Order: sequence, then C-alpha cells, then structure tokens
Amino acid sequence: MRSLQGRVAIVTGGASGIGAAVALRFIDAGATVVLADVQDDRGRRLAEALGPDCHYRRADVSREADVQQLIQHTHAGYGRLDCLVNNAGVAGPGGGIAQIEPDSWDAMMGVLLRSVYLGMHFAAPLMAAQGHGSIVNMASVAGFRAGYGSHVYSAAKAAIMQLTVTVGMELGESGVRVNCVCPGAIATPIFGKAAGLGPEEADAAVVPLRGALARAQPIQRAGEADDVAQAVLWLAGDGAAFVNAHALVVDGGLTGGKPWSATLETRSRLRALFEQVTP
Ligand SMILES: NC(=O)c1ccc[n+]([C@@H]2O[C@H](COP(=O)([O-])OP(=O)(O)OC[C@H]3O[C@@H](n4cnc5c(N)ncnc54)[C@H](O)[C@@H]3O)[C@@H](O)[C@H]2O)c1
Repeated sequence: MRSLQGRVAIVTGGASGIGAAVALRFIDAGATVVLADVQDDRGRRLAEALGPDCHYRRADVSREADVQQLIQHTHAGYGRLDCLVNNAGVAGPGGGIAQIEPDSWDAMMGVLLRSVYLGMHFAAPLMAAQGHGSIVNMASVAGFRAGYGSHVYSAAKAAIMQLTVTVGMELGESGVRVNCVCPGAIATPIFGKAAGLGPEEADAAVVPLRGALARAQPIQRAGEADDVAQAVLWLAGDGAAFVNAHALVVDGGLTGGKPWSATLETRSRLRALFEQVTP
C-alpha cells in the first residue's frame, strides 16, 4: 500500500522547484494532486506529464478568492481534502530596510505569509469536519537565522513557523496536523528569479547554482528539491501521525553552527598563537 493511496492533496507553487518535486512524490505515493500556480503553461505541462491523477488549477495564493475557490472546488470535486502544502513563494526584494518600499513589503507578505493564512483559513473547517488532515507549510532557515534571505522574506518565514505552531495547537484537537519544513540552500530557480532572470534562464541557472551551493553546509552538495519533497511526503502521511506543530529543518546541517573545517582552522590558529606566547 502506497503511503498516500486514495488521498487528495493540494500543492501551491507546484509548477516549479520544490512544489513540482512534492507533486511527483505525492503522485508516486498514490495521491490525487491539484497543482496550483500562476505559471499556467508550466503547471499544465507538468500536470500532464505526471498523469491522470494530477490536475493544474490557476490560483494566485495572495488572493483570497483564488485560494477559497482552489480549496473549496478541490474538496467538492473529490469529496475530501487530506493534505494542503502551502509552498508557493518568491525571494525578493533585497536591500536595506530603508530601501524596501511599503508596497513591495505588502506584496511580498501577500505571497509568502497571507497565502499560508488563507490556505489554512479555508482548509481548516473542511479538514476538521473530516476529522483528519495534514497541512505542511513551507518556511525556511531564514525564519530563524539572519543572512539567508531578505528582511521581508525572513520575517515572513519566521511568522510561518509560529503560525504553524499556534494553528497546530488549535487544529490538533480536531485530528488535523499542521507542520512546516525549513529548507536550507536548495538548488531551484528561485535564486535566479530573485536575481532578475526569466523562468527559462532561472531553470538553466540551477546547474551552476548546484556548484555554488555545494559547500554551504556540512553535507558537501547542494540541497535538491527532492530532499525537501521527501520531508513533506513524510509529514503528509500517516508515518508522521504523532507529529504536530513541528518545524522540520532540511538543510544538510547549514544552521548547526560553525563548519567543522572552520573549527579546525580556528583551533590551529589558536595553537600557533599560544606557541608564540609560551616562554
Ligand atoms: N530554494 C531554496 O533554497 C528555498 C529555501 C527555503 C525555502 N524555500 C521555499 O520553498 C518554496 C518553493 O520555492 P522554490 O525554491 O521551489 O522556488 P521556485 O521559484 O522554483 O517555485 C516557486 C513557485 O511558486 C510559484 N508562485 C510564486 N508566486 C505565486 C503566487 N502568487 N501564487 C501562486 N504561485 C506562486 C512560482 O510560480 C513557482 O512555480 C518557497 O516558499 C520558498 O520560499 C526555498
């Protein structure tokens, strides 16, 4: 028996990167998947490639009506909603706090944070009435460490982590689990898009990106979208039936602290210093 056999799932931001990898894992695990995105051509192509159990639906996750329709149509169409993956996201704008315009702050918060609230807002009553469900929100290591994203991105991801906890405490009593995943440096087009590349160029940039990210963490390779997808698959399924209000870090050890090689270097520098001062 496959782990999501007969289950119905929504994956937002499913046309690219981590969302696409989650959709693939879910389909392999036996789920019916509704991919939601604003990249219609990509979303449709991917859904077609993943087979008859995968469907694309356009939804801008920052818009209330889009998210409401996405969730309610899916539930009405299949008679259930077992899993919601609030994954859609963007990376910009960077720059100092004085450079961030109020409108771009609001727009970014809309895509990253309001979207997660909206998804849970509309899915919660349906899942609570079923007496079961698994919501997985996409946070980031940027939510608890500085230097891994812009101010607004980091603030949104920190808020997602805490919202996951507070909503998990509420919905857990109805049998609905709410967890989040905090990826580290994952080679996806999000980096290229943040640098101003178009979708095709950002896809192509993933190859050199892998090299650039390979040494960012103790595990000496870039994180892959599928590394995160496997964590999402586990949280979505019954194997994680007693896991709720949890933030699962998938970062190859990036946020563990100082890298071992840097620790050895510091120690040998200190040894040399002490040798100099020893009479
Ligand atoms: N790649 C990383 O290193 C990394 C690290 C930590 C967290 N994340 C998070 O993972 C999630 C997925 O990112 P990714 O790396 O796969 O990037 P990606 O750019 O490959 O995918 C993001 C998807 O979200 C979609 N999207 C953007 N705005 C949307 C909107 N308003 N409505 C619906 N869909 C929208 C995009 O079209 C795209 O398909 C994001 O929430 C991101 O913040 C990524």
